[in-house]
This record gives sequence, structure tokens and C-alpha cells, in this order.
Amino acid sequence: MARIHPLPDLLVSQIAAGEVVERPASVLKELIENSLDAGATKIDVQLEQGGVRLIRIADDGHGIDADDLALALTRHATSKIASLDDLERVASYGFRGEALASIAAVARVTLGSRTAQAAHGFRIQGDSTKVEPAALTSGTVVEVADLYFNTPARRKFLKTEATEYAHCDEVLRRMALANPGVTFGFVHNGSVRRRLAAGEAQRRAREILGDEFFAHARALDDPAGPLRLHGFAALPAYSRSGRDEQYFYVNGRFVRDKVLTHAAREAYADILHGSRHPAYVLFLELDPAGVDVNVHPAKTEVRFRDSRGIHQFIFHALQRALAVPPGMQTAMSTAQTALNTQNERSYFASLPRQSPLEVNQAAATSYLDFARSAFADAGQSMPSVADGNAPLGYALAQLQGIYILAQNETGLVLVDMHAAHERILYERIKQQLDAGPAPAQALLVPLLLNAGSGEIATAAEHGEALALLGFDIAPMGPQQLVVRSVPALLASGDLPALVRALLADLKEFPASRVIEARRNELLSTMACHGAVRANRMLSVPEMNALLRDMEATERADQCNHGRPTWVQFSLADLDKLFLRGR
Ligand SMILES: Nc1ncnc2c1ncn2[C@@H]1O[C@H](COP(=O)(O)OP(=O)(O)OP(=O)(O)O)[C@@H](O)[C@H]1O
Ligand SMILES: [Mg+2]
Repeated sequence: MARIHPLPDLLVSQIAAGEVVERPASVLKELIENSLDAGATKIDVQLEQGGVRLIRIADDGHGIDADDLALALTRHATSKIASLDDLERVASYGFRGEALASIAAVARVTLGSRTAQAAHGFRIQGDSTKVEPAALTSGTVVEVADLYFNTPARRKFLKTEATEYAHCDEVLRRMALANPGVTFGFVHNGSVRRRLAAGEAQRRAREILGDEFFAHARALDDPAGPLRLHGFAALPAYSRSGRDEQYFYVNGRFVRDKVLTHAAREAYADILHGSRHPAYVLFLELDPAGVDVNVHPAKTEVRFRDSRGIHQFIFHALQRALAVPPGMQTAMSTAQTALNTQNERSYFASLPRQSPLEVNQAAATSYLDFARSAFADAGQSMPSVADGNAPLGYALAQLQGIYILAQNETGLVLVDMHAAHERILYERIKQQLDAGPAPAQALLVPLLLNAGSGEIATAAEHGEALALLGFDIAPMGPQQLVVRSVPALLASGDLPALVRALLADLKEFPASRVIEARRNELLSTMACHGAVRANRMLSVPEMNALLRDMEATERADQCNHGRPTWVQFSLADLDKLFLRGR
């Protein structure tokens, strides 16, 4: 048996590097964090070959004293903490004193720096202790060349240049989102990929996430004692097939955390289809003592002292932001959203997107007066559109059996009749179910349905769950089902379609899965089939009743599938359509 012996220093660092330096992007993350910790306001990143050949980063931070240069590359040497107490309330990105040493163990590193007081800079190579004078402006320059040149096994795990570059770009996006006050330059193989000027958080988020995200985003800023959640959350109309646009930060640090993502997921549960993923950039701020960041070497995981409290806070803050009832939106005017959406479909392609609306108030008022008197003349008793109790206004007409046209104080409101009704039903059934089994309505004439063996088996197996939802559905021979009762709220819907869709949903769920867990999806199916279908003629009073129901129903501006249920066109928006040629 071999005797025990201490490992050589380089090997120890190489082992440590295995945890921190997974790929070029992880090097980039560590280096940008160091620059930010040094108070940099400008960070320039240069990559070659996806960062494998070279990562060079130059900052204008406070720099490193010449006497400390060699220490900076040494393991367990840091300027950021000195005691356990410091560790427990650490506010800097770094604290382990390991990143540079780990990187220097698996790549060729050059570290150059100049403090504001020094007459010139100094430089050191990773494999030497010799410090040489160098011509540098104040700040720090780190070059990391030939990653994994001395650890070939590791090198084999690197992916294509394009993939490694994409990971680096993602790191840059994350860091840039959280640090809007810092100017970033990003160059790959000699060509400029990003130039981000220091500025407002909103502008930075827009540059990184794009106009489309922003057209559907709600801003939130929810301070609650020592906690604060701020950022931007996209409404379901902008949802994703993956989790690629979920940015969650804790005290400025990008993290992947189950507590946080679960809370966000829950906040969206009612308005987002189960197979879609929300998009958001959210910053949670709390006392550093309330969160342990020393959980994982790469620091992307955290542990909260009070994870239950944090979960509740995030869930409620986000749900509130997403549920602002129609007519009271804050982040973005619905009209602008509508126009942007239309633009995406190139319907109003020649409309300038962001230019200020240019109609003057007098003109707007006279249009309004004109519209009012016109409708008064038509014999309609038109309630005042300035009525603060009716943000969605009053119905004018139905268009093609699909849309309701209404006018409110701002101008024209277009409502997707089916989507809006679906939303209202969904919330109502949900409220009823929360109070107990849904009230069922017995059908005067039971409904007989031809059914396949799968549907019959599902109905038999899930009889109890169906009863909770208000359905009495039973097999009636080998090829038929009999429906004796349905939820009262849905009795006027398309029952055969409703029953079939519901059985299809139930069949998909593994038998062991509790219905409760899929309840919201079942509710969506039920509401969709219970809601008025296209081509149903509605009277003006019926339409007005729907508008009032929408106002009373939280989240009524999103149908359950995540489509918007209504849009607002202001008079200025409408005028714009006609002033195009000017
Ligand atoms: N860009 C920089 N500007 C100024 N000082 C720097 C810079 N990069 C590194 N340093 C100094 O070098 C030290 C070592 O950096 P290193 O990244 O290895 O450790 P750390 O940031 O302290 O902790 P961690 O391992 O958690 O990142 C830092 O504590 C800091 O004093
Ligand atoms: Mg560091």
C-alpha cells in the first residue's frame, strides 16, 4: 500500500480548478467578477476562438499593488474577507481567494495592474514570481491563454468554438444585466459583438433581452422591509419553450435556485400553459447575513436562512405585478404593446415603433365629442366614457363574431370575446373549487357519447376526480359514456367537446399523479370549452356584461393560454394610422 504524502501545489490547484473552471465561460465569469469587485466602471473583454485560445479582460478598477501581484495568483489569498464574520455577511462577488490560482493552474496567465498612485504598472506571469514593470493605464489586465494546455483530458470536454463562445456571451449577458452602471465591450476574433454603454437598468435590460421581451414586460419594484424584489417580468404572451430567459439575482449575483424558480413558476401558474416557461429578469435584495453564498465553488447556488419567507415574498410580489387588473397597467401601455405586437406580424409594418405619439389634445377631444354625439344620435344611451368605474368602456359592436369593439376614455378597446370569457370562467371555477367540490348541474336529458376504450377506461378510473370537478360521467356499455351532470358554470358550453378534452387530459397524467397537481390545467381545458365560441352573436347588454366581468376578474387581460384578451388603441394610435403619409 502506498504511503500518505501531501500533493504538490500545482496539482492541488488543478483539482480545485476542476470545480471552478469548467469551460472558458467560467473563466470569464471569475474575471468579470474580479473587475466588478475592484469597482470598475468600464470592462473590455476580448476573446479568441471561443475563449479557448485567449480571454483578455481590461478594467479601470482600483488595481493591485505591485507587492500583492504574486499573492493574487496564490491559493487562499484574498483582499475581500479576513474573518468568519466577514464571510457571513460578504457583499463582494469573490471571497475564496482561489479563482486566479485555479485558472493559472490550467492556462497561461498574465496579470498586469496599476493602482492610481503608482507611476507605472507591473506585470507577472502565472508560472513565475518575478514582477516586471509594464506600461499600463490604471486598472487591471488579465490574459488567460491556451486553456487546459496542460490538462489534455479536460480539453477533450470542450465543445465547438461556437458553443464555447455562446456560453461566454451568456455570461456577459448575465453580468451586464446586473451591472447597468458599467460599460462593457465584447470582442470575439477581432470583431465587436457587444457595446453596452453605462446607463439605466431599464435600458440595459432592453438591450440584452430585446424589444419584444420589453413590449410584454411589466416592471416591478416591491420593497418589503429588509427584502426587495425588482426587475421585469414578461406577461404570458411572451413565454418561452425553455428556461433560457430566466434571470434571477440575489444581491447582484446570478443564481440558479429552486426556491426562487419555484416561487416564480407558481406566480405564473394561473396564466401560463404548463408547457411554456416564463421570461423574467428579477433582482432580490436582502441582508447578506440572510443568505449563505458559500455553498458551491462556482457560487451559483445559495442557501436562504428563511427560504419559506423568501418563497412567499417572491410569489406574492410577482403575482401582484402580473395580476394588475385591466385598465391599470403600469409598466407599458397596452396600446404600445398592441402596436408592437402588430408590428411583429408586419401588419402595421410602416408604423414607426418608438416615436412619441404626435396627436394634440384638442384634436383628441374633438374626436371624442364627435364619437359621443354620433352614438347619442344613433339612439344608444351611451354612458359617459370618462366613467372611472368602467376602464374597459362600453360596447359598440361585435366584429365578425370574434371581437367586441368598445370605447373608453382613451379610445378604442378591442376584446377577444372567447379569450376573455375563458379567463373569467377559469377564475370562477377556480374560486368555486377552492371552496369545495364544484356545484354540479344535472342534465335534464343525460348526454350519450360514443367513446373509445381509452376514454371509457379513463372515465372509470378517474370517477372520483371528475366528481370533484362537478362531472358525473360513467361507462354505458363497451362503446358509450353517459354524462349525467356537469359543472353548473359550464352547462351552456359545448359539452361533448368539453368531456372529450377533459378525458384526454386525465389520460395523460400518470395514474399516481394527484389530480390536484394538474388542477389548473384541467381548469384551463374546462374554461376553454365552456366559453362562448366564435360566431355567437352577443347583444350590446351581453357584451357590456362581459366587459364588467372582465374588470371584476383579476388577470382578465390574459386568457389561460397566455394570449392577451384585450388591447387598447388610443385615439392617438388610431390617428397615427391615418397620418402616415405626412
Ligand atoms: N481585476 C482586479 N482588480 C483588482 N484586484 C484584483 C482583480 N482581480 C483580482 N484581484 C485581486 O486578486 C485577489 C485574488 O483574486 P481571486 O479571484 O483569485 O480571489 P477572490 O476574488 O478574492 O476570491 P474568489 O476565489 O472567490 O474569486 C482578489 O482578492 C483581489 O484582491
Ligand atoms: Mg475572484
